[in-house]
Amino acid sequence: MRTAGHYVLGTEGLALLRTWLVAHEETLGRRVDELARMASAPDAPPMAIRLDVPDHDVEAGYARWATSYDDMANPLIRVEEPAVRALVDRVPAGRALDAACGTGRHAAYLAARGHRVAGVDATPAMLEKARARVPSADLRLGDLADLPFEDGAFDLAVCALALSHLPDPGPAIAELARVLRPGGTLVLSDLHPTMLLLGGTGFFVDASGRPGNVRSFHHPHARYLAAFRRAGLDVVDCVEPTIEPDDLAALSGGLMGFAEEAFRTAWVGMPNALVWSLVHS
Ligand SMILES: C[S@@+](CC[C@H](N)C(=O)[O-])C[C@H]1O[C@@H](n2cnc3c(N)ncnc32)[C@H](O)[C@@H]1O
Repeated sequence: MRTAGHYVLGTEGLALLRTWLVAHEETLGRRVDELARMASAPDAPPMAIRLDVPDHDVEAGYARWATSYDDMANPLIRVEEPAVRALVDRVPAGRALDAACGTGRHAAYLAARGHRVAGVDATPAMLEKARARVPSADLRLGDLADLPFEDGAFDLAVCALALSHLPDPGPAIAELARVLRPGGTLVLSDLHPTMLLLGGTGFFVDASGRPGNVRSFHHPHARYLAAFRRAGLDVVDCVEPTIEPDDLAALSGGLMGFAEEAFRTAWVGMPNALVWSLVHS
């Protein structure tokens, strides 16, 4: 049975790995003692906190996650949102697309900045929330790899926290370039590839308190860069905001009390989001 203890033990191991050549021996000893204590106590928390986490594809996963998406403490959004907004703020009001708009988080911001906003998403339940949140926007059901918009329709496109759900981000990146006018701006954000390698994924807890996971894929920077080149997109900026101490409560999902020092050592300073600003040549 999967348990919360596996996440805490993994964090202890990561803390050990990050510091094994630089920490004092005493500190390394604390890591090993905590690991051994928790691992040898399967009937005590955190090992006894059992988790049933079904794996979902995008539509089934976000149909469940839509019930809690806007209420859940999300450590990724905490670092991603200011970075995306800083890049979007450089673009004057015009025609803007929020691709994979979800519940309309960025669409609402773009509308408030005076853009004429369109959006697209593959999950009806997420789109319904976005329609209630941004009634002025033209929000359509559709796929990132086949956007329901004309060539050159937008001055700005944002695609946030979605590309890592695709096994290959290339076709979606080509579509995003197609719907931008020459000189238009594309802002992409996602969970950082390093976090995906460390087990980061689309983990959520729905409104009834049940966890789930939306399948996610690791894309290294090189894969993004190759897709940008093929689509005629030039990199203007690449931002990699890191996990800070204030993010740990949300990141640990309430488990930090079991291993506070390990959570700090393992996760603080780790890049949590990858945010690109690109221009369509
Ligand atoms: C983590 S949510 C992000 C929502 C919003 N962009 C935000 O940042 O708050 C990911 C969204 O991507 C959408 N999505 C994933 N794959 C998609 C695809 N191939 N085409 C369209 N939407 C997709 C999901 O339905 C979901 O609403």
